[in-house]
Amino acid sequence: MEMICYIHVVAHFILMILNLAGAFDVPPPRDVKVVQSELQWLSPSSDDNVMYTVQYKRGSEPVDDWHNVTSHNGTKFAITKEVYGAIFRVRAEKEGHASEWQISNPVQCVHLNVCIPLMTVNVKPGKTYLSMSHMDKSFEKEYGVNIAFNISSWKVVTGVYSEVQFNVTNNKNEVILNLESGQMYCFQVQYSFYNKPYGNTSEQQCVIIPETPEEAKRRTFLTTILTTFCILTLCGCCIFLLFKNHKKYKQLLRPPVEFPGHLREVKIISARKTRTIFDNLCTLSFSTDHRFPCMRLIQRICQWQCLLWL
Ligand SMILES: *[C@@H]1O[C@H](CO)[C@@H](O)[C@H](O)[C@H]1NC(C)=O
Ligand SMILES: *[C@@H]1O[C@H](CO)[C@@H](O)[C@H](O)[C@H]1NC(C)=O
Ligand SMILES: *[C@@H]1O[C@H](CO)[C@@H](O)[C@H](O)[C@H]1NC(C)=O
Ligand SMILES: *[C@@H]1O[C@H](CO)[C@@H](O)[C@H](O)[C@H]1NC(C)=O
Ligand SMILES: *[C@@H]1O[C@H](CO)[C@@H](O)[C@H](O)[C@H]1NC(C)=O
Repeated sequence: MEMICYIHVVAHFILMILNLAGAFDVPPPRDVKVVQSELQWLSPSSDDNVMYTVQYKRGSEPVDDWHNVTSHNGTKFAITKEVYGAIFRVRAEKEGHASEWQISNPVQCVHLNVCIPLMTVNVKPGKTYLSMSHMDKSFEKEYGVNIAFNISSWKVVTGVYSEVQFNVTNNKNEVILNLESGQMYCFQVQYSFYNKPYGNTSEQQCVIIPETPEEAKRRTFLTTILTTFCILTLCGCCIFLLFKNHKKYKQLLRPPVEFPGHLREVKIISARKTRTIFDNLCTLSFSTDHRFPCMRLIQRICQWQCLLWL
């Protein structure tokens, strides 16, 4: 009885092993790899009846989210920009049996000829930091020390572009000093290969250079002086106007006095002059920008004065 049981178990075990081997008796494709714009592999045998299933998965996708590729021709598949960063897997199939999957290397920029440098721009008062990087390691691996970064930079003043400057560097990090604060600068980078431009340029990055603490202080100082000046002028105007109106009121109260002819003319002319000066001040206050609080004050007074004159 024990003997029979033992034989049964062994037979079962042998059958299981045979089954497993049977499931994978199709040999897998060999040398699955991505080369210039192509996924390639070698047939596992000289057998012509072998079919292949090709699948790919982008790096960002979940572990088991594979997509079928249907258009492969024999042992080749043409790859395009859309599968940048993906990996492929291929298996051989024959008479309902399939081989194990064979995984390729990832699709990198060199395979597709789309390598462009990446750039980030950071600004601090007085300093602008450019950092360059590669899309992936393939370009550097392929061309090594012969590649450099060709940085273009230009200034934008009210929508007008200044002349573009080119700087070629091997460094991945560059610090630029002496850019004008308050101004907008744009940067772009392209690979330089044996001193010739290679491939497309990166996206352009534009930044406004912030002012340094000293510049901010100087601006505050200037604003203060201007404001003081404005207030003083304003007070002068007010005193003058009060004085003038005071005379007017007096005239209204008193019976009219005949001025001698020449004195009257002088009076009219000086009144006109004052009004012209005041008008100019008003025009100025309305046309300048509203940053200075004192200008707004002048505008108020102008409005009141207009009402008076009306
Ligand atoms: C891929 O094709 C196989 C059969 O060839 C099918 O069983 C499977 O569902 C397909 N996968 C997707 C994601 O379409
Ligand atoms: C498939 O490849 C063969 C040679 O490898 C070629 O003659 C044929 O035109 C290709 N077919 C397609 C659809 O690309
Ligand atoms: C490179 O630039 C050209 C023209 O602007 C564009 O057609 C092409 O798609 C770009 N290539 C890449 C890889 O972005
Ligand atoms: C380019 O080089 C010039 C002269 O060496 C330098 O003044 C300028 O800051 C550099 N520009 C960039 C973007 O590196
Ligand atoms: C840098 O780029 C400019 C514009 O494409 C090009 O004229 C110049 O030759 C490049 N310089 C180098 C060293 O690649």
